[in-house]
Amino acid sequence: MKLGFIGTGALTAAIVTGLKSLAESSVSIVLSPRNEEIATNLASRHPDVRVASDNQAVLDDCDTVMLAVRPQIASQVLGELRFRPDHRLISLIATLSLEDIKALTAPAGHLTKALPMPMIAHRLGATIICPPDPGAAALFGRLGKVIEVENSGEFDALSVATATYASYFKYLETIHNWLTSHGVGEGTARDYVSSLFKALGTAPETSPDAGFMDLAQDYATRGGINEQVLRELTARDVFGALAESLDGIHRRITGDTH
Ligand SMILES: NC(=O)c1ccc[n+]([C@@H]2O[C@H](COP(=O)([O-])OP(=O)(O)OC[C@H]3O[C@@H](n4cnc5c(N)ncnc54)[C@H](OP(=O)(O)O)[C@@H]3O)[C@@H](O)[C@H]2O)c1
Repeated sequence: MKLGFIGTGALTAAIVTGLKSLAESSVSIVLSPRNEEIATNLASRHPDVRVASDNQAVLDDCDTVMLAVRPQIASQVLGELRFRPDHRLISLIATLSLEDIKALTAPAGHLTKALPMPMIAHRLGATIICPPDPGAAALFGRLGKVIEVENSGEFDALSVATATYASYFKYLETIHNWLTSHGVGEGTARDYVSSLFKALGTAPETSPDAGFMDLAQDYATRGGINEQVLRELTARDVFGALAESLDGIHRRITGDTH
């Protein structure tokens, strides 16, 4: 299979790195020349990754192509290109609808949207795909979990969850800083916080029938220290503020300005 990318940035680098870390990778990759440094670096590290002369050369050479430019320039970049009816396109541009991309890529005959996470470089995390597409599911399935949805409303709602990564790390950073300001060494604090949250991350899988609030309650022993932190943060509406932020991201993603 020959897989092309229009836009060679952070996400393309992560996908290519994931694909090339597979013991058996029969996918050869054609990259568009921007970003030059990232494209050249990927091509120098992997024998069957090459950089095309321009975006059109990627399309002319490949049947399956991932669209991985930023939304702000997508109309301009895609509008200048000639697509074929047999092109199978996978758009990674989360904030552009299927309809918008379809209009920009006519007469390409097949289009799906995919939303991977950067950890795909290490074959971790999940990719949302909409509408379901066996080819895209097989490709991303080799790099982690795949969640296929029929409905673009569901895809947009799931996309909102990807806005929480930075805040998650800020949460860990707050705990880490507190530990180091109380005499714990940097390395010990980092190791401890990382191990705790790695273990907690497995809880939904090891207790598949438990809801997230069931898990919270499992840890919140009555009168205990977990219950105290949960109660205090709830009283300050920390979780309400998070839910409000998610609403704002949803409005931004769906273009709802009300
Ligand atoms: N990163 C993520 O975790 C993530 C997750 C989900 C979805 N996405 C979506 O995936 C897309 C790519 O994200 P990203 O993080 O990889 O962004 P990025 O790092 O900014 O990569 C986009 C790349 O497009 C290149 N580019 C600029 N103009 C171009 C042109 N005319 N033709 C071809 N390429 C051009 C840029 O090159 P220069 O550096 O030379 O300008 C840049 O390297 C975006 O739509 C984003 O919303 C990203």
